[in-house]
Amino acid sequence: MPRVAAGFPARDPAPGVIVECRAVSKRFGSRLAVDAVDLEVPPGLCFGLLGPNGAGKTTTLKMIYGVARPTSGSVRVFGIDVAREPRKVRARLGVTLQENSFLERLSPVQNLTVFGRYHLLPPAEIEARSDELLDFLELRSHADLPVTALSGGFKRRLAIALSLMNRPELLILDEPTTGLDPAVRLSLWQRVRELRSEGTTVLLTTHYMEEAERLCDRLVILAEGRVVADGAPRQLIRDVLAPEALELEVAPEDERRVVGDLDGVQRLRSGRRLMLYVRDAAALLETIRHRDDGPARDPGSVIVRPTNLEDVFLALTGTRIEAGEGGAAAVDAGAAA
Ligand SMILES: Nc1ncnc2c1ncn2[C@@H]1O[C@H](COP(=O)(O)OP(=O)(O)O)[C@@H](O)[C@H]1O
Ligand SMILES: [Mg+2]
Repeated sequence: MPRVAAGFPARDPAPGVIVECRAVSKRFGSRLAVDAVDLEVPPGLCFGLLGPNGAGKTTTLKMIYGVARPTSGSVRVFGIDVAREPRKVRARLGVTLQENSFLERLSPVQNLTVFGRYHLLPPAEIEARSDELLDFLELRSHADLPVTALSGGFKRRLAIALSLMNRPELLILDEPTTGLDPAVRLSLWQRVRELRSEGTTVLLTTHYMEEAERLCDRLVILAEGRVVADGAPRQLIRDVLAPEALELEVAPEDERRVVGDLDGVQRLRSGRRLMLYVRDAAALLETIRHRDDGPARDPGSVIVRPTNLEDVFLALTGTRIEAGEGGAAAVDAGAAA
């Protein structure tokens, strides 16, 4: 029997856009956490909000599901003005917050029941949906344990199950896989794909580039509250940098000696790592190794790889996105233009 995720009926994508933010800003005191963000989430996609800690992702989501009011600008969800009719919007969406919040002493089944009642579902419906969601999120084996006994991965699954209890048209996930081990992460990615394939629009935040690249049809990159890029992951990479990266370990003072001038090659630096972007990175490596206009010196650990979103973020903002990784990194001035 084909597996139907959580019993969701396949849905035709809703017409129009699901989420529309127009010049949305949010100020906390003197700090502009979200700065004139424009965002359009089409129906049926997995849409990513990507950015480092403090970029304004959670604040943007909160304005979308109506728990924070924009300082200026407008947010419409399903075509409805969220500031005017937050309840109407919230009835049609599901949210998984960055911090899990459950009734800790109750079991997953009991939590699902409480949530079902909150949504005013009839008892038989609550039972049926709980049952489906326990299977869909692979919670069955832990269904009757108190939540306090669950590992991080199971808690995350439960949080997502709860947000699906009202069969939302839009599912909002704030850093759904942060801190989870790779196996749980892969399994949650699969669940998100299944939901999307049944017509649920998914809006998620992440600071994992790989997650965004593998899961999101479209994404917006936020940095310091501003949109710095918007598009499909592959497209963003194509637009910003050449398709292959040659990564070398070379100190800034040795750069010229090791790689020479390399006219027209885009280059970025992150600490001791120097990245060169070209059509054919292996060929460039050969060129560097056979240069006769400098001392013969092999670059240290060398990586030839496809260009990725992390590179795009570095090129656009001059910093790496993974929190706390490598500290402040500088873009080689002018080279990324
Ligand atoms: N309630 C609040 N009061 C004051 N500052 C806040 C509040 N919420 C968020 N901020 C600030 O706004 C900025 C964006 O935060 P947030 O949206 O949580 O970023 P992200 O989710 O991308 O990590 C941060 O500098 C954060 O400290
Ligand atoms: Mg956040």
